[in-house]
Amino acid sequence: MLVRIMDNPEQALEQGAELLRAGKLVAFPTETVYGLGANAWDPEAVASIFLAKGRPADNPLIVHVASMAMVDELAREIPQHAKLLMQAFWPGPISLVLPRRPRVPDITTAGLDTVAIRWPNHPVATALIERAAVPIAAPSANRSGRPSPTTAQHVWDDLGRGVDLIIDAGMAAIGLESTVVDVSGPQPALLRPGAVTLEELRQVVGPLLVPPQLQEQASGEVRSPGMKYTHYAPRAPLHLYLGEEQAIVTAMALQAKQLTEQGERVGVLTFDEFLGSFPQLTVLSLGSRRDLSQAAARLYRLLRQFDEQQVDIILAQGVKSDAGIGMALLNRLSKASGYRLIWV
Ligand code: TXA
Ligand code: MG
Repeated sequence: MLVRIMDNPEQALEQGAELLRAGKLVAFPTETVYGLGANAWDPEAVASIFLAKGRPADNPLIVHVASMAMVDELAREIPQHAKLLMQAFWPGPISLVLPRRPRVPDITTAGLDTVAIRWPNHPVATALIERAAVPIAAPSANRSGRPSPTTAQHVWDDLGRGVDLIIDAGMAAIGLESTVVDVSGPQPALLRPGAVTLEELRQVVGPLLVPPQLQEQASGEVRSPGMKYTHYAPRAPLHLYLGEEQAIVTAMALQAKQLTEQGERVGVLTFDEFLGSFPQLTVLSLGSRRDLSQAAARLYRLLRQFDEQQVDIILAQGVKSDAGIGMALLNRLSKASGYRLIWV
């Protein structure tokens, strides 16, 4: 069932909390993307998350909390780096990998000795966790292999009646999943870039390990199990264009023209400023090139639209990864392309 939070907040939260305590699945909004929640202490409830999503059992979940008392119940130890990051960014779009207590069910952490914890910055998410009074394990509420949901409708489209309750609170503000940082070892390591940027992390904890995948080099040892899965890939192959902006647009326009002449249905992912370069094509805009936060908020919705419009190929304009949410945006675009990167 899908309920809109505005219609009756009290009832939606109470019903959600009750279902969670009873071992059911509740999809809820966060500031990053919608999550598919279950009581983190309840192995059977957590098993039903994996089943509903079609998620491989060796990919661990993020546990969502709304108090430091909940963190203490989950984590065996809170290293100094973790404390600093919590003070700086919680509640917010960052998940911290910490040594776990034995009480945390194996299925929640995929058998790892660590647990990823996040205190989300969304009033509905925190109210729901507080009322359920248990930590909530919640991956993104998409079917495995689809883009993360940024609206309740996306959750419904992917999971429908496989979820006991979907709470609709409108579009997710950030639109990309949280930054994940492993603080369980001597050196903090960035496992997934997000809205909390590398620069912001460095300011708080100093130097960080950044795995080669994120530096777009040959892949090394896999530290975040999530990294080894090709996440979302659109039905049509997506070619990601990188390099100097104007040169990219020229190359994309030329390629689009040639493919169209060969009878291909071409989809183009670009910015408002360049819409004029792609006449008579299926063009979707990430917004102004000057607003990468807006681009992040729109990305997953637009990728879903390309699937609906049944294009044969997608030409996507890359972004600079050096500032703000650019690194996260480029990371998700690269994944969606299956690393088909075209350097212009
Ligand atoms: O923004 C988000 O993080 C959203 C919302 C719902 O909070 N959740 C989310 O969950 O994106 P999910 O399951 O789609 O991604 C969790 C990521 C995966 O890459 C997983 O491998 C990694 O976190 N992860 C979870 N526990 C871990 C652990 N103990 N060690 C290393 N990586 C872990
Ligand atoms: Mg996910």
